[in-house]
Amino acid sequence: MQSLAEFHTKTTNQLFSIDHSNIWHPFTQEKLYPTKFLVKSAKNEMLNVIDETGKETQLIDGVSSWWVNIHGHCNKYINEKIKEQIDKLEHVMFAGFTHEPAIELVDRVRRILPRVDMTNLHDTAPTLNRAFFSDNGSTSVEVAIKMATQFWHNQNFENKKRIIAFKDSYHGDTVGGMSTSGTFMNSAFKSLMFPVDFVSSPAPNFGRRDKNLSIAEHELFIEKEIEKAGKQSIKEIEKLLELHPNKFSCIIIEPLIQGSGGMKFHSVEFLRSLRKLSRENNILLIADEVFTGFGRTGDDFACKEAIIVPDIICLSKALTGGYLPMGLTFCTDEIYEAFYSDSRLKAFFHGHSYTANPLACTAGIASFDLYTKEKRLDDVKFINSKMIQALKMPDLLLHPLVRNIRIMGAVAVVELETQKESNYFDEFGPMLYQKFLSKGILLRPLGNTLYFMPPYTISVSALEYCLKTIKEVISELEYTV
Ligand SMILES: Cc1ncc(COP(=O)(O)O)c(C=O)c1O
Repeated sequence: MQSLAEFHTKTTNQLFSIDHSNIWHPFTQEKLYPTKFLVKSAKNEMLNVIDETGKETQLIDGVSSWWVNIHGHCNKYINEKIKEQIDKLEHVMFAGFTHEPAIELVDRVRRILPRVDMTNLHDTAPTLNRAFFSDNGSTSVEVAIKMATQFWHNQNFENKKRIIAFKDSYHGDTVGGMSTSGTFMNSAFKSLMFPVDFVSSPAPNFGRRDKNLSIAEHELFIEKEIEKAGKQSIKEIEKLLELHPNKFSCIIIEPLIQGSGGMKFHSVEFLRSLRKLSRENNILLIADEVFTGFGRTGDDFACKEAIIVPDIICLSKALTGGYLPMGLTFCTDEIYEAFYSDSRLKAFFHGHSYTANPLACTAGIASFDLYTKEKRLDDVKFINSKMIQALKMPDLLLHPLVRNIRIMGAVAVVELETQKESNYFDEFGPMLYQKFLSKGILLRPLGNTLYFMPPYTISVSALEYCLKTIKEVISELEYTV
């Protein structure tokens, strides 16, 4: 039998060969795009990688490690906290038992959740007091959907079962996540998914840009389109409510940015209308802040930016600073009370073996320490101003291959011009991916939608280099549209 020591003497070539023979990578057509890089180590925004030829290079992480990383890679403080915890307690069966890291994490995150709701100023805004742990973003959504469904069931509202979701949304890859996602990706799994009522995305799809518009006119056009899309979405929801009165259990939304669906932005006004409508019709509002949570849109949470409080909020990704997988679903006291009963049948029937894993909770607390002490929202503000300065410039905004440029918080998006509507499979995607790799930057475009989303601690020089390179690469693209 092969010993561990022998394994560690393998050449890079041999490692790639084992990877290609035995590992199946996510969201990857491996025949077309086999894995080409092995990451040896990482520090802050830098990944130290080896390619298939054995060449060592550095890449700037321009996607925050699949949107999870906010303090940079291998942060000394988080590393130390996890090391301390690992010698104390590594796992707890979380039914009937609890532990300090879980208690501390919930107590601290709870305090920065949205509290003020400007659509409900005359009543006390509901407080998101109660947390349920799970393992990742998808399961935090799964928990939210099941919680909303059983909330009505426990109160004998057997008719309130329908769910509203939005086209172009993404809520994960478990069955509940897929069923509520309005993406093309799940067509093979239709038979597994439960029915959901989809309404138009509150963020518009932009067609070819009208070249006769000035920059200011085009910006105004975008604003108007966003307003129009939000109104259309609300209109469709109202129609559904009229058609099926008292049948809806919940509405699920990615507030402010639909991430995987194309980094599409909508307005705070839309979110307020949605909150008002859901409350008036006794429908729970689930905010999936798996991607937007912890500063990405500029405030702690996108709902805070819109000044609304949802009934349920889903958190993951940056929750542990990008260290360990964990999901947290917070709900209001009102929801929890519908489960709190002498009847064992009314308990929430959900749980995972790794619920509230102490190591993940410790990473979460350490990440929270840094997020507050080191004022990460100020870092986001700085990144945002640099992005605007570099990208919202006439030469880029008026470039024939730029359909539009949008920036929110620490997310910059350049939608490139094609003959059609924006599309995940557009060939711009793989081409730009390669181009940026050759310039030492990891970006993973969604088809013709290029986005840049670095860790909040990215160095100024790396930030400037990425923005300069994005500009250069776009300027040099052959105009063939
Ligand atoms: C808004 C949103 N919800 C849920 C998920 C699923 O999270 P995970 O990949 O951790 O399961 C994602 C992942 O990108 C997401 O962006």
